[in-house]
Amino acid sequence: MGFFNFGLQVVVLISYCSFVSFVVYGNKIRSNVIPSTLDGPFEPRTVPFDVSLRGNAVDLTDDDPRVRRRVKGFQPEQISVSLSATYDSVWISWITGEFQMSNHNKNITPLDPESVASVVRYGTLRNPLNHEAKGYSLVYSQLYPFEGLQNYTSGIIHHARLTGLKPDKLYYYRCGDPSIGALSDVYSFKTMPISSPKSYPKRIAVMGDLGLTYNTSTTISHVISNKPQLALLVGDVTYANLYLTNGTGCDCYSCSFPNSPIHETYQPRWDYWGRFMQPLVSKVPLMVVEGNHEIEKQVGNQTFVAYSSRFAFPAKESGSSSTFYYSFNAGGIHFVMLGAYIAYHKSSDQYRWLERDLANVDRFVTPWLVAVWHPPWYSSYNAHYREAECMMAAMEELLYSYAVDIVFNGHVHAYERSNRVYNYTLDPCGPVHIVVGDGGNREKMAVGHADEPGNCPDPATTPDQHIGGFCALNFTTGPAAGQFCWDRQPDYSAFRESSFGHGILEVKNQTWALWTWHRNQDSRSTVGDQIYIVRQPDKCPVRYKQTERWFASI
Ligand SMILES: *[C@@H]1O[C@H](CO)[C@@H](O)[C@H](O)[C@H]1NC(C)=O
Ligand SMILES: *[C@@H]1O[C@H](CO)[C@@H](O)[C@H](O)[C@H]1NC(C)=O
Ligand SMILES: *[C@@H]1O[C@H](CO)[C@@H](O)[C@H](O)[C@H]1NC(C)=O
Ligand SMILES: *[C@@H]1O[C@H](CO)[C@@H](O)[C@H](O)[C@H]1NC(C)=O
Ligand SMILES: *[C@@H]1O[C@H](CO)[C@@H](O)[C@H](O)[C@H]1NC(C)=O
Ligand SMILES: *[C@@H]1O[C@H](CO)[C@@H](O)[C@H](O)[C@H]1NC(C)=O
Ligand SMILES: *[C@@H]1O[C@H](CO)[C@@H](O)[C@H](O)[C@H]1NC(C)=O
Ligand SMILES: [Fe+2]
Repeated sequence: MGFFNFGLQVVVLISYCSFVSFVVYGNKIRSNVIPSTLDGPFEPRTVPFDVSLRGNAVDLTDDDPRVRRRVKGFQPEQISVSLSATYDSVWISWITGEFQMSNHNKNITPLDPESVASVVRYGTLRNPLNHEAKGYSLVYSQLYPFEGLQNYTSGIIHHARLTGLKPDKLYYYRCGDPSIGALSDVYSFKTMPISSPKSYPKRIAVMGDLGLTYNTSTTISHVISNKPQLALLVGDVTYANLYLTNGTGCDCYSCSFPNSPIHETYQPRWDYWGRFMQPLVSKVPLMVVEGNHEIEKQVGNQTFVAYSSRFAFPAKESGSSSTFYYSFNAGGIHFVMLGAYIAYHKSSDQYRWLERDLANVDRFVTPWLVAVWHPPWYSSYNAHYREAECMMAAMEELLYSYAVDIVFNGHVHAYERSNRVYNYTLDPCGPVHIVVGDGGNREKMAVGHADEPGNCPDPATTPDQHIGGFCALNFTTGPAAGQFCWDRQPDYSAFRESSFGHGILEVKNQTWALWTWHRNQDSRSTVGDQIYIVRQPDKCPVRYKQTERWFASI
């Protein structure tokens, strides 16, 4: 580092900021002035847990009309849109035919994916839809070679890529197989604006750890009423793995069903989720990255099969050979989606892809750089505390050297926003890390903080077997030196609150973006947290496009 004489600045800014926070920053005390990261770093603030939210999050049941199959034969259902790498192309995905489950050792014959065509008719007019795209189809199975467990085989999953689209334009589409009279109704979506420092999607919804509960349904209805142009889901999608294959569910992953020979899943929950989400994601492109609940191990050690089969990803289009990491542009924002449950070390394919991807970002075209993955590096809740520190050790320096502006994570079922931070040190050029694992799933809400007496996790209990090792040691510098946890809310944590909700990112221009966290208990006009995230390209050097030179300003 050594670009800044930062120590002095911090002192000055903190005293200035505590004044600002008193006036405008309180959750209940409001004014017209929205703080910006230029006012930071902020003094850490915790909104106490509202005990009226102790109510369980309860899953929608099989007979809820929103999760039941509403089509006949090979009519399309579970229709969704996702972006390709650039504005001129999107993916449309849908499912035809019914899933099958076996319960009496009777082998099920999967549907033939070739038996139903994958066609999308689209255009800028509702009628006629004068373009056609042909896609591909697949069927996946979730198999458990154990006595008493049931197997699942999906309906036919279709993905088709539309190309040659114009920016910022409304397109109408129908998907299905016209040769058998099975075309969907007409749906529409809007393409992203052209990539330039002057054009941005107006509102981007960011949600995490959704599941499919009544609280999830509150979150999604709030997302819909905020009218996003794009939605991000930062992992942990359906929580189908809180169920046995016979459809019996429970409220937690680790305590569930100790006698099962493998961790089971009830795959129909994915179909329920696809149906439930259709009203949002048939119009608003959804970009998903994997969480631990998508691992879903099955026969032959296969993992992530439902996740990788059901969603379309701009992997190839962004030079990735994997559904676990990819990138895309949305107007003047470049998003990198990273995988925490696959190899991320410096010699891994993912890391090498990330180096290439970042080296190709042109900040004159996409000034904003946003990184997204599931388990947070900077969270101060005791749930999953410092769990992803091997990934952090491998990748933080690279992301910092390219001046990533914002990081979005989930995994911890609460809300938290960091001060600008790098390597556990406040740094005006570090990203703002935002945790929105508060989508509403049926597992417990994260309420405890690692800095509260008796809440510091024992490092030995912290490792997660799926996350590629354990790297968190006691801090060697800073106010928590010699300890595993802070004894007060860490300086890196600017704001935290345990409540369900979602966020909306509104990039205004090449340096200012408004971030708003909407709590579920509020009507949609009230907000739990709001801040302008301000880039300082003149102060924060960006390692620029392939030249390996450091530009002081862009
Ligand atoms: C979830 O929704 C239920 C009502 O369905 C409510 O009682 C509970 O407080 C909600 N939980 C949270 C954390 O908002
Ligand atoms: C499920 O599939 C596995 C692997 O093919 C097989 O061993 C098992 O018998 C099947 N179970 C049922 C109930 O059909
Ligand atoms: C599913 O299996 C579990 C464990 O064997 C059992 O307790 C439960 O009653 C079963 N549920 C149904 C609906 O059969
Ligand atoms: C699955 O993984 C385990 C542990 O890594 C290994 O012992 C086993 O041989 C693997 N099984 C298959 C079918 O690959
Ligand atoms: C991160 O900080 C530690 C001290 O807390 C230091 O030893 C290490 O070199 C730093 N890493 C980087 C990449 O700056
Ligand atoms: C790490 O910190 C914890 C307290 O957070 C302390 O109990 C433990 O002894 C420390 N370990 C080392 C190796 O210093
Ligand atoms: C960027 O947007 C912010 C917030 O809307 C505004 O205050 C600022 O003047 C704008 N800056 C430029 C360079 O347009
Ligand atoms: Fe998670």
